[in-house]
Amino acid sequence: MFSIPKMRMRILGIESSCDETGVAIVEFNDRGEATVLGEVLASQVVLHERYGGVVPELASREHMRNVPLLLDEVLSKTGLSLEDVDAIGVTAGPGLKGCLLIGVTFAQGLSVAHNLPLLPVNHIEGHILSGEMHDTTLRPPYLALVVSGGHTEIILVEGLGRYTCLCRTRDDAAGEAFDKSANLLDLGYPGGAKLAALADSAGRSTRFVLPKVAREMHDFSFSGLKTAVLLLVKKYRAECGSDPMIIQELAWCIQDSIVDALVHKTRKEINDRKLPLVVCGGVSANRELRRRLNESCPRVIFPPLHHCVDNGAMIAYVAGRHYKAGRSASSFDVLSRWPVEELASFYGVAS
Ligand code: KG4
Ligand code: ZN
Repeated sequence: MFSIPKMRMRILGIESSCDETGVAIVEFNDRGEATVLGEVLASQVVLHERYGGVVPELASREHMRNVPLLLDEVLSKTGLSLEDVDAIGVTAGPGLKGCLLIGVTFAQGLSVAHNLPLLPVNHIEGHILSGEMHDTTLRPPYLALVVSGGHTEIILVEGLGRYTCLCRTRDDAAGEAFDKSANLLDLGYPGGAKLAALADSAGRSTRFVLPKVAREMHDFSFSGLKTAVLLLVKKYRAECGSDPMIIQELAWCIQDSIVDALVHKTRKEINDRKLPLVVCGGVSANRELRRRLNESCPRVIFPPLHHCVDNGAMIAYVAGRHYKAGRSASSFDVLSRWPVEELASFYGVAS
């Protein structure tokens, strides 16, 4: 049995759902405000680059090596020991099963050895609540545009653990659309940020035209864009070779098409519901997306760039919020698929 959460508390967060290992310690004060005391991140980009995508077995092995090292590092950075921590949060899904298992088994071991409560955290809830972590004035209801390598969703947030998905992708995620297009332009993996940088340096271009992505459909869909980009790149490669200007303008056109789809559907939901918007997940680092959403939505919150990507702080924050609400679970399974709409029944909160 664990005691009732204190008003002030420190939570250790562990993230290992995909190709970044993140460990952080977050402190909550008696007003519920969170401060990140220390955080460390180990990216595996270099490891997976040569395969053009994440190799799950290699990712798991790397997490196994990194998690204990990062824990030591965050403890030494903050000058804290595990005795100073009140609870542990760990990503239990969605993500790569083997990778999730590494974080969860390590956290379970710590929980038993140090008699600390353990909270399973949904990775997407982590991205969503990174908005509230940084803007303490933000209260539900609000909308969250979750745009990462695996997810593209507009979520209605009605309270802690109470989420409704209003719109999601039928096929590729926005990050995947960026990465696959970047691959076609030989920009390496993951090429989303590189494609975006090239696009930004091109300025506006009207040389190429890509179809507007599924404006009339309710859900997002990026698979058609992938085919259109493939045909366009082939055509101009044949005609112009690898002219850097052409590659820049192609990048601009691809970014324009993806961003247009994201902004169009998000703006529609905002106009219908008149709610603030949090934009989160790796693609929320995209400058053009930020510019267009800032221009067209009354209140938009972007977490700082280092909390747009996967990180341990958002996991510690979510764990702290649920812990304060009296929820913890020592035994649970990892869930490679775990939609946020299922959290209300998972936590037993009224939806
Ligand atoms: O949330 P995240 O770090 O990991 C997942 O949970 O997927 O998102 C990673 C995705 C990748 O697809 C990456 O290419 C994309 O975010 N990304 C970007 C930018 N920075 C990262 N996409 C477009 N523009 C960027 N500046
Ligand atoms: Zn993520």
